[in-house]
Amino acid sequence: VNSRSGVVARAPVAQAPFAQWLAQELERFEARADAALPPAERIPQRLHQAIRYAALGAGKRVRPLLVYGAGECAQPGAPSPTLDSAALAVEFVHVYSLIHDDLPCMDDDVLRRGRPTVHVAFDEATAMLAGDALQAEAFRVLADAPASDDVRAALMGELAHAIGTDGMCGGQAIDLDSIGRSLSLAELEAMHRKKTGALMLAAVRMGALAAGADATMLRALDRYARAIGLAFQIVDDVLDVEGTSEVLGKTAGKDAQKNKPTYVSVLGLTLARERAERLRRDALAALDDIEESVSPVRTLRLRQLADFIVLRSH
Ligand code: IPE
Ligand code: IPE
Ligand code: MG
Ligand code: MG
Ligand code: MG
Repeated sequence: VNSRSGVVARAPVAQAPFAQWLAQELERFEARADAALPPAERIPQRLHQAIRYAALGAGKRVRPLLVYGAGECAQPGAPSPTLDSAALAVEFVHVYSLIHDDLPCMDDDVLRRGRPTVHVAFDEATAMLAGDALQAEAFRVLADAPASDDVRAALMGELAHAIGTDGMCGGQAIDLDSIGRSLSLAELEAMHRKKTGALMLAAVRMGALAAGADATMLRALDRYARAIGLAFQIVDDVLDVEGTSEVLGKTAGKDAQKNKPTYVSVLGLTLARERAERLRRDALAALDDIEESVSPVRTLRLRQLADFIVLRSH
């Protein structure tokens, strides 16, 4: 199949439909997350309730899905417990980043995943601590992962690099510093790659490492992940303008209201959408390269996730 030329149709792959895979992985992930987090009755109850409120029962779970998709690419078959640990860790960090992102001192949002934000449902101090604790839980889960010392260390290193000052926290600092300023396209891209792209890159890399991917596959997966990581935040910017709070489950129109530079404010809606689409095709092209040495069955879920990320409506 020469998919790059677009001339020859892709051979059908005998796998469960995406919706079925999605439902199965989400159910699996939810059960693992429920079991991994401290019970609500345990003291301090308010903190544990807030953590469970934020982390369970909602969210698209895109990052865990990327972990599982990359794992499937490296090693087909049912996800291993190591893959589950990687999926939990990236999602716990993501949830922590959302809780803090919504705080009054950051984006000051009252709605998240279709419900009141943690500082509204609980209080600011609890929201701060719930985020802090989820970050620690993420690394605790990796420290306890059933894997070799080398793999465990690699997973923890990937996550740490992705969320520090060169990654998510750095990107969030630039985001807050950019309020009311205009950024060049290069500056905007650098901010998005840090605040959102880095964790998605980590999700893909951690899935691949947990499943034993070789260096060649990892390089191609990096290209895939960098493309969809940036596309993800571009689409988030577009949906902030085009979506409704009801469908998004978070307050629409927030970026313009807060006077933040986004792909829409810098490029306009049409070019922003085109850029996301181009990145989706770049991501798929990276998978084409992988398919030169492995069956397309193994890249199918990542292919479908690229479409899911760019073509989503919430
Ligand atoms: C929202 O992430 C925050 C960004 C990094 C843009 P998601 O759109 O993945 O949020 P959930 O997890 O589905 O709620
Ligand atoms: C947040 O970006 C990125 C994070 C690291 C959480 P946004 O501020 O655009 O995310 P939303 O739109 O509130 O979900
Ligand atoms: Mg923000
Ligand atoms: Mg926000
Ligand atoms: Mg946003």
